[in-house]
Amino acid sequence: MEDYTKAVKEFVEEHPAGVTAVLMTGVGLFALRRWRAGGVCRSKTRLDGKTVLITGANTGIGKETAVDMAKRGARVILACRDMGRANSAADEIRKRSGNGNVVVKMLDLASLQSVRALAKDVHQTEYRLDILINNAGIMMCPPWKTEDGFEMQFGVNHLGHFLLTNLLLDLLKKSTPSRIVNVSSLAHETGKIHFDDINLEKNYDTLVSYRQSKLANVLFTRELAARLKGTGVTTYALHPGVIHTELGRYYFPSLPLWKRILFMPLYFVVKTPWQGAQTSIYCAVDESLKNSSGLYYSDCALKEAAPPGRDDAAARRLWDLSASMVGLA
Ligand SMILES: NC(=O)c1ccc[n+]([C@@H]2O[C@H](COP(=O)([O-])OP(=O)(O)OC[C@H]3O[C@@H](n4cnc5c(N)ncnc54)[C@H](OP(=O)(O)O)[C@@H]3O)[C@@H](O)[C@H]2O)c1
Ligand SMILES: *[C@@H]1O[C@H](CO)[C@@H](O)[C@H](O)[C@H]1NC(C)=O
Ligand SMILES: *[C@@H]1O[C@H](CO)[C@@H](O)[C@H](O)[C@H]1NC(C)=O
Repeated sequence: MEDYTKAVKEFVEEHPAGVTAVLMTGVGLFALRRWRAGGVCRSKTRLDGKTVLITGANTGIGKETAVDMAKRGARVILACRDMGRANSAADEIRKRSGNGNVVVKMLDLASLQSVRALAKDVHQTEYRLDILINNAGIMMCPPWKTEDGFEMQFGVNHLGHFLLTNLLLDLLKKSTPSRIVNVSSLAHETGKIHFDDINLEKNYDTLVSYRQSKLANVLFTRELAARLKGTGVTTYALHPGVIHTELGRYYFPSLPLWKRILFMPLYFVVKTPWQGAQTSIYCAVDESLKNSSGLYYSDCALKEAAPPGRDDAAARRLWDLSASMVGLA
C-alpha cells in the first residue's frame, strides 16, 4: 500500500499536466453524470409467497438485485461459491430489506458436479421457483480451466448456467408464470461463437473469451424462449450498463499504474451496483414484459440485440454443443 502511494506521488510530480487534464475530465464527467441515461425499475409488483434464486449474489449487481427481491417479499436464495462472503451478504440483505427469508446455498459454476448438487438441493427444499436470475459472471481472467476442463469464462458464464437452468426447468414450469433472467452484456455485440475451438485453446484472449460467453447468454435466451413457448416460462437477456463492481478484479491489476490512473475519471461515470441492478429487476418483475420472451433489454427498455445475438441457427447449434458438453441428452 505504501509503495502504491509512493508510486502515485512520483507519477503526479512527473506528469503535472496529464494529471490536471485527468482531474478536469473527471470533474466534467461528474457534472454530466446526472444526465447519463439509466433506467429505474418503477414496478410495484410484490413477490410475497414467491421464490427467487440468484447466482453470484454475494456482491455487485447480484447483491443489489437480491435486496430488491427481498423487499418485495420473496424468499430469496443466494447461490454462491464462497460461503463466508455469501453469509455476510445474506445478513446485509436481511437487514436492508427487513425480510428474514433469505437463504444461502453453495454453487460453484465452474463445476458441473456442484451445479448438479445445487439443483438437487433446490428440488429437495423448495416446492416452487418463480424467478431464476443467472447473474454470476467472471471477466477477462487468465486462461484458467473449470473442474471439467472447459475454458473458465465460457464454463462459468454460459455452461454452468446452461446446466443449472435446464435442471431447474421443471420447477419453473410448475410455478408459472415464471421467469428466467440472464445478465449478459454489451460485449455480446462483438462476440463470436468459436464452434471449431470452443475452449479457445489455439489462441486464448481474455476479451475474445468474455465476448463469446456473453454472446452465448443472448443466444441461449433466444433458443430457450423458442423451446419454452406456451409453457408460461418466459426468458429475458440484458445489459446492466457499465457498473462499478468487482468484475474488473482480474483486468485492472494487470494494467500498469499509468493506465490505471488514466482510467480514474471513469469512476465518476460508471453506475453504482444499485443502478446496475435496475434492468435485472425490471426483467424479473415488470408487468409489461409478461407476454414477451427471448428478447434483450438495456436501461429498463427493450433493445435490439446486435446481429450475432439474433442468429437463430447459431443459437440452435450452440444449444446442441452445450448439451453435449454438460452431458444432457
Ligand atoms: N459490471 C459491469 O459493468 C457489467 C457490465 C456488463 C455485464 N455485467 C455482468 O453482470 C453480472 C454481474 O457482475 P458484477 O458486475 O456484479 O461482478 P462482480 O461484482 O464480480 O460479481 C460477480 C459474481 O459472480 C460470482 N461468481 C464468479 N465466478 C463464480 C463461480 N464459478 N461460481 C459461482 N459464482 C461465481 C462472484 O462470486 P465471488 O465473489 O465468490 O467471486 C460474484 O458474486 C455478470 O454476469 C457480468 O458479466 C457486468
Ligand atoms: C441464460 O444463459 C444460459 C447460459 O448461456 C443459458 O443456458 C440459459 O438458457 C439462458 N436463459 C435465458 C433465459 O436466457
Ligand atoms: C398479455 O396477453 C394477454 C392475453 O393475450 C392480454 O390480455 C394482456 O393484456 C397482455 N398483457 C400485456 C402486459 O401485454
